[in-house]
Amino acid sequence: MPETIDLLLLGAGQLITCGSSGKGPRRGKGLSDPGLVRNGAIAVKNGRIFAVGSEAAVRKRTGGASIVKTIDAEGRTVLPGWVDPHTHAVFSTYRADEYEARIRGDSYLQIEERGGGIKRSVHDVREIDEERLFQISRRRLMRMLEGGVTTLEIKSGYGLEREAELKMLRVISRLAKETPLDIAATFMGAHQKPPEHKQGDEFVRLLVEDMIPAVAASGLAEFMDVFCEKGVFDLEETRRILEAGKSHGFKLKVHADEIFAIGGTELAVEMGAVSVEHLVQVTPRGIEKLSTSDTVAVLLPGTSLGLASRKFAPARELIEAGAAVALATDFNPGSAPSSSMQLAVALACSQMGMIPAQAILAATYNAACAINREKEVGSLEIGKKADIVIYDVEDYREIPSRAGLNHAVQVLKEGRVVWEIKDYKLRSEVGL
Ligand code: NIG
Ligand code: FE
Repeated sequence: MPETIDLLLLGAGQLITCGSSGKGPRRGKGLSDPGLVRNGAIAVKNGRIFAVGSEAAVRKRTGGASIVKTIDAEGRTVLPGWVDPHTHAVFSTYRADEYEARIRGDSYLQIEERGGGIKRSVHDVREIDEERLFQISRRRLMRMLEGGVTTLEIKSGYGLEREAELKMLRVISRLAKETPLDIAATFMGAHQKPPEHKQGDEFVRLLVEDMIPAVAASGLAEFMDVFCEKGVFDLEETRRILEAGKSHGFKLKVHADEIFAIGGTELAVEMGAVSVEHLVQVTPRGIEKLSTSDTVAVLLPGTSLGLASRKFAPARELIEAGAAVALATDFNPGSAPSSSMQLAVALACSQMGMIPAQAILAATYNAACAINREKEVGSLEIGKKADIVIYDVEDYREIPSRAGLNHAVQVLKEGRVVWEIKDYKLRSEVGL
């Protein structure tokens, strides 16, 4: 009996594999080779990549097989789906008024102090019905899918009490079952101290003694994250919370060096965190620590944009020092309300000095490393999930350079078309 190939994708003018050879995150010069194949093709079987490379090589490998479906990209650019390793995508409403206030000159912390910021989103999430929270979050995720995101991480952290945090985590778990996206769930009860436990030690004790054990018992989260920041959780509190998380089996993430450098990056590395995120204010010592560790540095240029700030994380220095750099949106209702990974990649290029190949690898393969999914997704390699996106561009560098547009026209998750613009070839400039 001839072999059955479920899908043969042909005619990729540029096939960007982001191939890894499975050696952990790409670093330094290794972050500059996107694995470009001209006139590329991919064969898919049972949702996984069966063959990938030049069209001639893939045709040879699948010669004699029975092909169920063929897609001809007709010269367009094909990439792996984006992996967004840092989002707060489950929330109630956006806080666009705060965006204006920041442009007018108010600081993020000033807005917090008058009842805005995370506190306001906590109030909204505690109020909202679970079904409605699921439905609006599901629609947001479907919009992300339209932009080529096929895997993402989502944090809780707008509940800040046991039941509301569990409500968020149940929504995240349902999103994983009822949308095509792969989702990594993170418990972020340590996102802020809630209004009812603002002072002293009370909330840290509640986290350590009650919430962390309850969330661990629920099995609803794989990672745990702490916002280590002046006025939020200080270094000693962060350490206590991370230690409790670790002892309950969570893998660790840390929000660090966003507004003030108080040692969060160094602590994250010391505690073997999978990733440390933000890093706008990272110090030379923090960079040095990252350069010799497996902790992935997740940079969030969309947050600088949302905060109307001109300061971005020092991506070039981190890459040159040998740190493992990834990109994410930080999608949330306040500081980063854009869920576009294409925009994050564009900002990484124009504002942080990453070349397009570096930014794309940081948003795919290295991003998968930041959520321990690199064996499954993040590159187009044999055996991995066939998460494939066709972009209506001839050169992958058009994705960041022609910023502000969604260039994705067809999105495949595990070899199935999950979103497409039906008549895209009629609207296209490619090949005309
Ligand atoms: O990653 N830095 C802390 N937390 C979020 C902000 C969330 C919000 O503003 O609602 C962040 O930027
Ligand atoms: Fe965040």
